[in-house]
Amino acid sequence: MRRDGTPYAFTCPSPRRYQHQWFWDSCFHAVAWSHLDPERGRQELRTLMRAGRPDGFVPHTAFWNASPLWRRAPLYATASYRGDTGTESIQTPLLPVAWERVGGATPDDLAFLEAHARWLIRERDPDGDGLITILLPDESGLDDSPKYDAVYGRLAHWKPGYARLVQRCRRARWSAATLARTTDEHVEDVLVNVAHALSLRSLARLTGNAEWDEHAARTEAALVERCWNERRGLFFDLAGRSETQVELSTWSSLAPLALVGIPRELRERVANEHLLHRRRYWARFGVPSVSMEEPSFRPGFNAYRTWRGAAWMNTNWLMVGGLRALGADDEADTLAAGALAAVERSGYREYYHPRTGSGHGEQRFGFATLAIDLPSGFPATGGRVARSA
Ligand code: GLC
Repeated sequence: MRRDGTPYAFTCPSPRRYQHQWFWDSCFHAVAWSHLDPERGRQELRTLMRAGRPDGFVPHTAFWNASPLWRRAPLYATASYRGDTGTESIQTPLLPVAWERVGGATPDDLAFLEAHARWLIRERDPDGDGLITILLPDESGLDDSPKYDAVYGRLAHWKPGYARLVQRCRRARWSAATLARTTDEHVEDVLVNVAHALSLRSLARLTGNAEWDEHAARTEAALVERCWNERRGLFFDLAGRSETQVELSTWSSLAPLALVGIPRELRERVANEHLLHRRRYWARFGVPSVSMEEPSFRPGFNAYRTWRGAAWMNTNWLMVGGLRALGADDEADTLAAGALAAVERSGYREYYHPRTGSGHGEQRFGFATLAIDLPSGFPATGGRVARSA
């Protein structure tokens, strides 16, 4: 119970370092709970929604049992410095996907999920093109990815200037419309929009409301029209007011593999030329977060810089699903086996060296338990794989 009497129940991402509730971590925890105790998954997602607002906003991080320490408070994306119960920022939106997996949604739950999708479309798609925008790099969950280096420059998540970026968002009252009009540090992010489209498809199935399929189709079409790069055979983020493609190969460029609504020829190119390519992404212990060919690829441990090469379990999870959707079951099994071998070797870790399987970052890390879902799982269809023609 929080001091104001609000009940909560969630799994900490890691008992030592991450004690708050993180949005996408909770979605992944719920998928893992769906195998063991779906009711715990439902409790975790209801807790996440309770951290939100009646208008459908749900924070990136909810502070249930502790406030951020005063030293870190300026770096949390809150409205002020004290007394906040959560951030004003978002994280990669997978809530309906997770709900579909744990089942048992009540009409109230569904009404909130619809409000949340409406909030994202209204508040985070200022140019109305079907792609939602992130203001802070960590809103994608890929905090220090090198794909944000050129976009955010000195304001990047791992630089001291990040505090200034947060302050600027506070001054603009977290309005994406204002910030997209007046600044260049914002991104129409491929991974975030893949998650958004997956969620809209889940919402259509959960509610039976075809409106959500139409929204999903719009987002998928925009990914193809605007983010696809024919020369490179990859999808790239669009940055700033000029909406320039950021041509750096990270696993986010492969994420549309998980969307069966993306034309099969494009998904095949992504898989054959990149994911399954031994010098790019096909490593023994999981999918690297940055192509092994990129000069910025750094697969080892760095306490202050994540997502610069190491393999994370949620990445493997989406890519296993993407391969299965293409009918590439052998490759999906090989990837799942490699990821499970990393867990056997190093335990449930925050991330792994993709070539050696050594574990890094936090121990007993929550969403590494997505490994339980790898042999069978795919997020988009309630556990069954949708095959495209
Ligand atoms: C790190 C990760 C982010 C995750 C959070 C909590 O910031 O980059 O993706 O949500 O930790 O586990």
